[in-house]
Amino acid sequence: MERIVILDFGAQYNQLIARRVREQGVYSELLPPMSSVERIRGEALSGVILSGSPDSVYAEDGRRCLPEVFSLGVPVLGICYGMQLMTHMLGGTVEKAPVREYAGVTAHFGSSPLFDGMPDSTVWMSHNDMVTRVPEGFAAAAHTADCPIAAMQDESRRLYAVQFHPEVAHTEYCAKFFENFVHGICGCAGGWSPEGLVSELVDDIRARVGERKVVAGLSGGVDSSVAAALVSRAIGDRLTCIFVDHGLLRKNEADEVMHFYRENMGLNVIEVDAREYFLTQLAGVTEPERKRKIIGESFVRVFEREAKKIGGAELLLQGTIYPDVIESGTGGASVIKSHHNVGGLPEKFGFELLEPLRPFFKDEVRAIGEALGMPKELVWRQPFPGPGLGIRVLGEITEEKLTILRESDWILRDEIKKAGLDRAVWQYFTVFTGMRSVGVMGDSRTYDYTIAVRAVVSTDAMTVEFAELPHKLLRRISNRIIAEVPHVNRVVYDITDKPPGTIEWE
Ligand code: XMP
Repeated sequence: MERIVILDFGAQYNQLIARRVREQGVYSELLPPMSSVERIRGEALSGVILSGSPDSVYAEDGRRCLPEVFSLGVPVLGICYGMQLMTHMLGGTVEKAPVREYAGVTAHFGSSPLFDGMPDSTVWMSHNDMVTRVPEGFAAAAHTADCPIAAMQDESRRLYAVQFHPEVAHTEYCAKFFENFVHGICGCAGGWSPEGLVSELVDDIRARVGERKVVAGLSGGVDSSVAAALVSRAIGDRLTCIFVDHGLLRKNEADEVMHFYRENMGLNVIEVDAREYFLTQLAGVTEPERKRKIIGESFVRVFEREAKKIGGAELLLQGTIYPDVIESGTGGASVIKSHHNVGGLPEKFGFELLEPLRPFFKDEVRAIGEALGMPKELVWRQPFPGPGLGIRVLGEITEEKLTILRESDWILRDEIKKAGLDRAVWQYFTVFTGMRSVGVMGDSRTYDYTIAVRAVVSTDAMTVEFAELPHKLLRRISNRIIAEVPHVNRVVYDITDKPPGTIEWE
């Protein structure tokens, strides 16, 4: 197996870097910047890419990587901030650029394996700082009118860097650049594809399931849908999907999701109305971990009942992905929260678990979904947690609170969609905080609830930044929620990244 790791310093284009590498037929993944050498090496490593970032290398809290990254014995490519960080850590100089470039400009390429077959052409620049002196052993390898060192290399150590963004389509020879790095410099043969992965996964599922029956918990989200599509491809109608309406769904969700599955996915889906059951189990419960365990257990009990009705299914398919596993505290990591499908499972239940997506991150699950030919609206749906609104009503869950939450969430989704941001923002929702405060409406005093708006950008949910939504949009959202949702008189915006926060409030 060949693998190129991208250390993710937080630039908005990073997912695109992974895509460009994958387009060259090599598996690529984003890892947090301070990942250990063992994690970076993994089972195979052909090269490392240091991504761009909104940070400056001179800022005290600017993101860093371990110095060992430069002596792993594989080629390293720095992109934008990645180039500045390489320079800074290896003894060169980075300074504020006299002109902040944010444009397509012509680059003049010197002799470098990075630029094989690339004539002088347009590259995309987006930066405030730039390299003014390369570290010892390096030579400049490209320049533009305003940037004398637009690329550099130390061929003996196989360290390369570019100030521009080769991953964006505005860079004219974008694909050629990645072909040069991935095949020419890292020496990869290629051959990886999400399609290839799909047939491997399907074979594994067939071998594991044999002639048995499987039930799947389908939530309407990306993970469980991709898992179901995979298993359906492997075992056909021996898979029965169960969509549980637990009373903690968003406005119109049950109808929309069921309609979508029936029309577009050709899956065998049963809808179970378990609203009363879940809400009774949760009555009076306030502690978040307790709520999560109750929800996890209630799901399993519903699946057990339904499995009996279809003549016994031995396996339960879950769309568990890697971050669910990590945060639930398995494998030595501490418990952050018990995801309903991992740490929230009861101790005893009558199923063997089938979790084909367990090793993958969300962006990979989406790639698998696309390779399976699933509809784009579903593959790119924002994540929605299994416990649903149950972990967005802080404290005790009541129908009144759920209604307020549903209506405010509906408005937020509508405004984000109208602003054309539904794909750019990773996840967005409202939270019923339970807090009440004083306000004034129509010359009268109010004493009503506070709704929090949460919107984040991320690639894999492991680390996120709060989304920098335009202020005008925030004002519109706030005005509409207060005007249209009874008993809300204040809206706050959550400006916490993860870490230290988490995406959900419970
Ligand atoms: P946190 O809040 O841990 O969330 O930063 C990370 C991602 O996981 C989703 N999430 C869940 N998904 N079952 C799920 O299927 C759960 O119990 C659960 N808890 C959180 C959350 O919405 C975010 O996308």
